[in-house]
Amino acid sequence: MSADPRAPLRLFDLTGRVAVVTGASSGLGVAVARTLAAAGASVAVVARRRMRIEALADEIGGQAVEADLLDEAQLDGVIPAVADKLGGPEILVNVAGNIFSRDRAEDEPPQAVRQTLGLNLVAPLRLSQLAFPHMRAAGRGAVVHISSISGRVGIPGIPQASYAASKAGLSGLTSELAVQWARHSIRVNTVAPGFFRSEITDGLFDDEKGGAWLRRNTPLPTEGTADDVVGAVLWLVSDAGRFVTGQTVVVDGGWTAR
Ligand SMILES: NC(=O)c1ccc[n+]([C@@H]2O[C@H](COP(=O)([O-])OP(=O)(O)OC[C@H]3O[C@@H](n4cnc5c(N)ncnc54)[C@H](OP(=O)(O)O)[C@@H]3O)[C@@H](O)[C@H]2O)c1
Repeated sequence: MSADPRAPLRLFDLTGRVAVVTGASSGLGVAVARTLAAAGASVAVVARRRMRIEALADEIGGQAVEADLLDEAQLDGVIPAVADKLGGPEILVNVAGNIFSRDRAEDEPPQAVRQTLGLNLVAPLRLSQLAFPHMRAAGRGAVVHISSISGRVGIPGIPQASYAASKAGLSGLTSELAVQWARHSIRVNTVAPGFFRSEITDGLFDDEKGGAWLRRNTPLPTEGTADDVVGAVLWLVSDAGRFVTGQTVVVDGGWTAR
């Protein structure tokens, strides 16, 4: 044990590490990118909305990588583009995700099911595969996937069968990659948020009935924000989480504790 009581705080420092953050044009991805950069990492921010990621890259001194993660060629180009400009990534945070159908399970169109799995599950797996050689060469690495409490419990009133399946899939992927890659000191974890405010949930939070429903189902009295989720991500990608791998960490204000 270190005699310096401040030593554990320094474990959050990311100086000298290259990080890739997807979904970095809004919501949680922006918050994660800013935090990792503030902790010292060189951060590549990935999304389709070029103006937004370019502005963020300017702000944090990082790299903007415009890519549609549902396009195979663009998906496969992300990690090489980062490696060329910033160096091989040691940190990958898969934040990009979406719900493509609001239909009940029995009516979800097959195309929406494929898109949901493609963006929420296949893209994180593919980016992990492509980041792996760089992490192995560095002798360390950390991957964090962003899933959802809907990968763990059903959410009454908001049908999301394929979304739930894709998010639960991330937890299975997490334990398997963690075990396969542990010998290279590459850690793989998932953060499963409950509801927090973002472009996709603002309407729900602002709606009178929606807001009341969220408050009724969330034991903690405060409203969730992206900043409430970022701490878990920083912990898991940094040396502060160096003995944690294969886990799904739930950050939900107590939603699933009931
Ligand atoms: N908000 C919540 O309450 C909540 C709860 C649980 C889990 N989550 C999860 O948390 C993550 C972030 O959610 P958020 O609420 O912050 O969402 P958001 O603000 O809607 O952000 C989604 C991000 O994904 C990117 N994206 C979407 N489709 C893409 C594509 N085809 N290719 C590349 N990037 C794409 C978007 O960028 P472009 O549109 O610019 O491409 C955007 O940056 C998601 O995985 C979501 O499932 C959210």
